[in-house]
Amino acid sequence: MQNFLPIAYFQNQFVPFAEAKISIATHALHYGTGAFGGLRGIRDPQSANNILLFRLDRHCQRLSNSAKFLHYDLPADKIQSVIVDFIKKNKPEKSFYIRPFVYTSDLGIAPRLHKIEKDFFVYGLELGDYLSPEGVNCRISSWHRQEDRSFPLRGKISGAYITSSLAKTEAVESGFDEAILLNSQGKVCEASGMNIFVVRDGKIITPGFDQDILEGITRDSIITLAKASGLEVVERAVDKSELLIADEVFLSGTAAKITPVKRIENYALPVEKPITEKLRDKLSAITENRDSNYKHWVYEVPLA
Ligand SMILES: Cc1ncc(COP(=O)(O)O)c(C=O)c1O
Repeated sequence: MQNFLPIAYFQNQFVPFAEAKISIATHALHYGTGAFGGLRGIRDPQSANNILLFRLDRHCQRLSNSAKFLHYDLPADKIQSVIVDFIKKNKPEKSFYIRPFVYTSDLGIAPRLHKIEKDFFVYGLELGDYLSPEGVNCRISSWHRQEDRSFPLRGKISGAYITSSLAKTEAVESGFDEAILLNSQGKVCEASGMNIFVVRDGKIITPGFDQDILEGITRDSIITLAKASGLEVVERAVDKSELLIADEVFLSGTAAKITPVKRIENYALPVEKPITEKLRDKLSAITENRDSNYKHWVYEVPLA
């Protein structure tokens, strides 16, 4: 059972989470015409009256961009001010995850995006580890990630997650923890809800934006941090065979943070993962506001 934060933002107001309900006729439920964000927040370990949100501006901008694909004009600063008020009302004690969602809220049928009501809601839940921090075993999915010519992959469009769901279930039901999806060209793309990184000979490699990936905010943070630490980062197409003989592979995402990969199919990866661990330590220091060089990535919400 999830522990939901008590207050949600729904239909332009703050209401108890249990009262934020939609109709079974809701358009987005039928056609997948929603888009969501996902951010993590924690109590500031240095100052308990503060909540810390990682890269709030980037998350709000990505959701605003996703909303554009739904023909919904929702400025990033509006999303941001609702999220900040949402935090102040909920005053979460434990680590949490915020789920802002935009969708076609109309009750009419027929797939379309014009002349249709839309809405925006926000709710949250307590969230610890999403994947085991010890690492995961991955299956190469038989399901491929969609292509940008048939799906706006720069948005986190709810309907797209049927593919992630199929891939994750296929992986788990066959004894793995997580799925790695290839793109339509057969190149490595990402996991069910995370980007992917490969380390070979001290160099970090990750599929580029032309590989049908989601533009992950954690991915962007890792690339910046790795370069600042003097590591070489290459964004390019990655073959499946590179994964199998990599020195290290890790997944990145808001929910998963940096999760090492232990095994891919029947190929065990080396147990030592120095670069993964170094980047993971750096990222946690930043999200906990312990790194003065990256305070601009951490949005502080004072609760007092
Ligand atoms: C399909 C997919 N890829 C990658 C990511 C990682 O993105 P981020 O680091 O912005 O959470 C996510 C999670 O949002 C996702 O759903």
